Amino acid sequence: MARRNLVLAVDVGTTKVSAIVAQVRPDGELAVLGIAATPVVGMRRGLVFEPERVAAAIRDAVNRANSMAGADLNQAAVGVNGDHLGVQVGHAQVVLKHGTVREEDLKAVVQKATPAAADPERQVIQLVRRALAVDGFRGVVDPVGMVARQIEAEVLAVTGLNTAVRNLKRVLSMAGITPVLMVANPKAAADGVLGDDERQLGVVLLDVGGGTTGVVVYRGGELQHLGVVPIGGEAITSDIAVGLGMVATQAERLKLEYAQVGGPPEGGTLEVRTVNGQAVKVVPRGQLEEIVQARVDEWLQYVEAQLRRVDWPTGPAAGVVMTGGGAMLRGLAQFLEQRWGWPVRLGSPYGLAGLSDLSKSPGYAVVVGVAKAKAQEGLFVAEHEGLGERLKKLWVNLFS
Ligand SMILES: Nc1ncnc2c1ncn2[C@@H]1O[C@H](COP(=O)(O)OP(=O)(O)OP(=O)(O)O)[C@@H](O)[C@H]1O
Ligand SMILES: [Mg+2]
Repeated sequence: MARRNLVLAVDVGTTKVSAIVAQVRPDGELAVLGIAATPVVGMRRGLVFEPERVAAAIRDAVNRANSMAGADLNQAAVGVNGDHLGVQVGHAQVVLKHGTVREEDLKAVVQKATPAAADPERQVIQLVRRALAVDGFRGVVDPVGMVARQIEAEVLAVTGLNTAVRNLKRVLSMAGITPVLMVANPKAAADGVLGDDERQLGVVLLDVGGGTTGVVVYRGGELQHLGVVPIGGEAITSDIAVGLGMVATQAERLKLEYAQVGGPPEGGTLEVRTVNGQAVKVVPRGQLEEIVQARVDEWLQYVEAQLRRVDWPTGPAAGVVMTGGGAMLRGLAQFLEQRWGWPVRLGSPYGLAGLSDLSKSPGYAVVVGVAKAKAQEGLFVAEHEGLGERLKKLWVNLFS
């Protein structure tokens, strides 16, 4: 018997492609039926560089997720990543024709508020409705049926470079996948792990991946900022490889086992194999710590530059939530807490039933968020044309 309401979500990460097949239950909950991650080479900083190899990894992850679920899906919701992602804000108001707020009025005001892509090289990837005001009252969540004269909306459009999006679509097509929804990776990470209460209080989400770090800021329940920094955990690994003279796989192993940031210096030495694998070299542990700290300090400059774009005197009351594999670097959360004075924790995807253990790891936040976006998408679809590259459809995520 065919099962209905299945969604396929794909995250083409810099180090791994993850895929989820989930069933959307009548109550909106997602039940994970299949989940897989395949290591990928050929991606750099969230962008496709070697199409054949990336396509092979996508095919493998999707096949495994499908076969676990006993499904055969080839239409997918997909995350878009890279430091080319940017945001534009638009604003509009609509006078109500019928004296009450209807679903079509919400669509109309969002469409009118959608900013035109300022640069012909860019396209709108995702729209997020921000403030909604009914007769001047802000913060209304679901005004359908309300008696009013006019509604106003503010829309945040996430834009990206046409070439980056085209390359992603190309590898998906090579892998036999048709993208039916595109979402911005950092937004998906936030959807994967953040609760409404945190978004209301104010929260920073850092998705620390292999080649990128996504930065998202919410305040008063609204998305304030979204950006991507072109540094992730792979930079630490390659610094260790160069600094200590070893191949990347060894450097990665050393990082996972011994690397840490902040905290008191660990004395002693480490024995590492040199590049040709023949000789063993003794390295003071302090040297590893210096290498890691230097890269984390540079990363911090980029992340803080993103946070400075948000104007907030008191900082995020709900603190900082980190996702992605790089967030698991030993000592990172404590180091950031001390530096910023805000609570910092690892975020775990929530709102899933089924094969939830694996999908609850911070590294799956994006693919879970992509699946959630797909599950909620049917609620509001806007037709739109003429933004940058002509777009057939823009999906408006009302669940910002
Ligand atoms: N325990 C750990 N300590 C430190 N780093 C870790 C740990 N586990 C994973 N990582 C790092 O996490 C990174 C991969 O994270 P993730 O899977 O989130 O990246 P990705 O999604 O493939 O990349 P991106 O999001 O940048 O496109 C790697 O650099 C890996 O070394
Ligand atoms: Mg990632």
